[in-house]
Amino acid sequence: MTESSEKRVFIQTFGCQMNDQDSGKMLRLLEGEGYRGTDRADDADVILINTCSVREKPEQKVRSLLGRFRPLKENREGVVLGVTGCFAQQAGGALLRQFPYLDLVMGPDAIPRLPALLLDVQLGGARKLATEQLDRQDYPFTNDLVFRDGRKVTAFVTIQKGCDNLCSFCIVPFTRGREVSRSADEVVGEVRRLADTGVREVTVLGQNVNSYGVKKTTEPPFHELLARIAEVDGIDRIRFTTSNPWDLADGLIDLFASEPKLTSYFHLPVQAGSDSELTRMRRRHTREEYVELVGRLREARPDLALSTDIIAGFPGQTEVEHEQTLSLLEEVRYDFIYSFKYSRRPHTPAMRLEDDVDGPTKKRRLADVQGLQARITRERMKAWEGVTAPVLVEGPSKRDSTWLSGRISQNWIVNFAGPERLVGSTVDVDIETAFSNSFQGRAAGVDAPRTSPLTVLQ
Ligand code: 5AD
Ligand code: SF4
Repeated sequence: MTESSEKRVFIQTFGCQMNDQDSGKMLRLLEGEGYRGTDRADDADVILINTCSVREKPEQKVRSLLGRFRPLKENREGVVLGVTGCFAQQAGGALLRQFPYLDLVMGPDAIPRLPALLLDVQLGGARKLATEQLDRQDYPFTNDLVFRDGRKVTAFVTIQKGCDNLCSFCIVPFTRGREVSRSADEVVGEVRRLADTGVREVTVLGQNVNSYGVKKTTEPPFHELLARIAEVDGIDRIRFTTSNPWDLADGLIDLFASEPKLTSYFHLPVQAGSDSELTRMRRRHTREEYVELVGRLREARPDLALSTDIIAGFPGQTEVEHEQTLSLLEEVRYDFIYSFKYSRRPHTPAMRLEDDVDGPTKKRRLADVQGLQARITRERMKAWEGVTAPVLVEGPSKRDSTWLSGRISQNWIVNFAGPERLVGSTVDVDIETAFSNSFQGRAAGVDAPRTSPLTVLQ
């Protein structure tokens, strides 16, 4: 423990944006108790690993990190070591048994109790397990705590927790519990406060945003929530993630046609390209329905960029099914994809299926998927060269601080030379060069009339 009364907390975060949000909440909660965040574990009084368990790899990372942090705890008295997040929820008491030097194992729903749990550990010396889940519809969303330094241009806003779907590969309904929608008034209130601090773009976050308000009928449907957010002064852009294809309402498609603040980017996970595999995954749509949906979205918003998630080597996947996934990628021509080797997760329905695609085959199929998509992405990005597009400037570029970095509506990053005063404004940029995952461009003039790259992508 340090001499000063200020204690330090180090949080290492894995996984999705929801986990990033949770780490932010934990930090704010502890700041309220007099802690300060540090980016050095060896300097910290409290070390938290905020984990993900959606696939196998992060789990192994956590185990090795725990081994690395062990001496920090043993060398200095009073250091508290905790594992939080989805893997904590999944593994629970087994983690405490396996790692005798671990003080705290806490699932996502226990975050509001973090300060009290830490005090118990520090004062009472007791090891703590907090993995009970809150499925109440009045679940206390503590998002307002994620308050910013006032210089951020973009922010995430949580509208939902948990997931009621039963996609057979997915551990999320187990680790994050049943779906609960946050009240629309609370969401819009938070967006207003963010806009007041200078935020210009919000990304609305939920495990399955399309079903927002479906169970909790006091709340409006998702597209109406987005329309209310669009009314907030100061907010120029709205993004959202993640959507499922089967409960996507016509109202959302219509909103793409009518609401310019809604960005031209849609992440629509498909997972596989064959009906047989989609059925085994318990996805509630066919390939044809999905492709039809994509057609309607592109009709509503011709310059829409699309991304998806693909799983390679799901149980029972035949070579023909694999080929169908490849042909779907060719048919849809996504701008970008996230792709993963299937990884067997505890508590999931797919545990009952034999994980029968062997390692080398999974690896090769993933490489097929990624190789094909790399070509399509290159072609789609190349089409932007020579186009002028509005870029919301987020900050100085990572590579060179005299450059600025921002995003086009379609979510691609654009770097261009320009003064820092442009941060937070929307600038027309001539896109000159496409790299593998970003563009380089030249400012076309501040506040100049905007030319939209409509139809360039189709
Ligand atoms: N194995 C591989 N990928 C998975 N995903 C979820 N569960 C698994 C699993 N068991 C992927 C899906 C999902 C994304 C967030 O992670 O593609 O959309
Ligand atoms: Fe998992 Fe499916 Fe829920 Fe997404 S929708 S979190 S893939 S169960």
